[in-house]
Amino acid sequence: MRLENKVVLITGAGSGMGREVALLFAKEGARVVLNDLVPETVEETAQMVTQAGGAAIAIAGNVADEADVEKTVKAGVEKFGKLDTLYNNAGIMPNEDESVTTMKPDVWRRVLDVNLNGLALCCKYGIPQIIKAGGGAVVNVASFVALVGCSVPQDAYTASKGAVIALTQSLAVQFGPKGVRSNAICPGPIITPLMETLFATEAAKMLRLNRIPMGRFGQPHDVAYAALFLASDEASWINGASLVVDGGITVNYF
Ligand SMILES: NC(=O)c1ccc[n+]([C@@H]2O[C@H](COP(=O)([O-])OP(=O)(O)OC[C@H]3O[C@@H](n4cnc5c(N)ncnc54)[C@H](O)[C@@H]3O)[C@@H](O)[C@H]2O)c1
Repeated sequence: MRLENKVVLITGAGSGMGREVALLFAKEGARVVLNDLVPETVEETAQMVTQAGGAAIAIAGNVADEADVEKTVKAGVEKFGKLDTLYNNAGIMPNEDESVTTMKPDVWRRVLDVNLNGLALCCKYGIPQIIKAGGGAVVNVASFVALVGCSVPQDAYTASKGAVIALTQSLAVQFGPKGVRSNAICPGPIITPLMETLFATEAAKMLRLNRIPMGRFGQPHDVAYAALFLASDEASWINGASLVVDGGITVNYF
């Protein structure tokens, strides 16, 4: 098994890719510490993991709340004895997020607070534990929108994900010498509840689908397998990378 003996904290594990990653990581031998803002859904993911024979603990909390993050890391370490890997996946993409020129400051702050500040707080409490465990991995979920411009802007979201890539690179340099690898994943459009909010009309869906050379949207497992590789010791010399998992949308000129 590719994650045997590893303890992994996964944020936003109650839905979409976070849930898929929880199930795959547990299947590959990891004991998983699961966070989500929604208590029922994170509990449901934990039950799915245990029913499949894995080990999980569910801790509801807000990644943007420092006390919640501290509590989650502490509870995970108390339950499983250590932390090897941090999978920073929790994120939001509200419909009200549009161009900076029409930006509503409260929406802007909310997006940055979860997607960037929340991720940073998880690093604040998670990385010292990973160092204590003798080294491990941080995997941060960014987005392909941090790499290309988009004529349908979601500027707070885009800015937050660009910052995640920049922060990942800084973490790679700071903590690589202590045995902690930090990498980002940049998913393209993946079919999850978050993405479905953008598919209000068939035209909106086709606008995006037509740009994907592989001719289909991504599925959560497409990202989960990339995450599994980056979290595993197979990636032991990969540090500071941004792995694009997008069916080719980012490199599509025409
Ligand atoms: N779906 C896509 O096409 C796509 C593309 C690129 C990047 N991403 C990123 O992938 C990650 C997962 O997205 P998804 O599509 O699976 O979304 P999703 O909405 O299905 O799942 C996100 C989960 O995060 C949780 N969450 C939200 N705010 C939180 C908070 N403050 N604290 C703790 N948990 C919180 C939600 O409750 C939800 O369960 C996000 O960071 C998203 O930005 C998604």
